[in-house]
Amino acid sequence: MKKKISNLPFKGTPEQEAQLKKVIDENKHDKSNLMVVMQHAQDIYGYLPIEVQNMIAEGMEVPLEKVYGVSTFYAQFALTPKGKYNISVCLGTACYVKGSGPIFDKLSEKLGIGADECTADGKFSLTACRCIGACGLAPVLTVNDEVYGRLTVDDVDDILAKYKD
Ligand code: FES
Repeated sequence: MKKKISNLPFKGTPEQEAQLKKVIDENKHDKSNLMVVMQHAQDIYGYLPIEVQNMIAEGMEVPLEKVYGVSTFYAQFALTPKGKYNISVCLGTACYVKGSGPIFDKLSEKLGIGADECTADGKFSLTACRCIGACGLAPVLTVNDEVYGRLTVDDVDDILAKYKD
């Protein structure tokens, strides 16, 4: 699946950059440590925006295309940030036939974001997932670790209202 690029401006801090530089300095003697550096970078920033990929490419002296290629190939790397509350709607078969598509669409409309995007205030992100093994509760969505089942589109407002802060 093609990964989406972040819809939000990069907001890295000098502290994060210093941490990343330290990791790069410790690993740049060996280009095969690229994945290790990228993993650390994701721990530091929560995802790998193009600005961070650039720092890694320059520091490790590898082409940016290589860093980008690795970040899009491996599922463990995220190109978009997660919100404080990540809403994940199951679009697996059981959920889909019971109406998870319209639930996803309503969330998308209410939050003003699409799949793999994050609201400008960093509060909500929206993703679609495959079966999470709770088909008996279809259609299902999760908000971080919280599971909501047997949903209809009319439940969307109530769920969002629970995450005011
Ligand atoms: S298809 Fe959604 S939980 Fe299984």
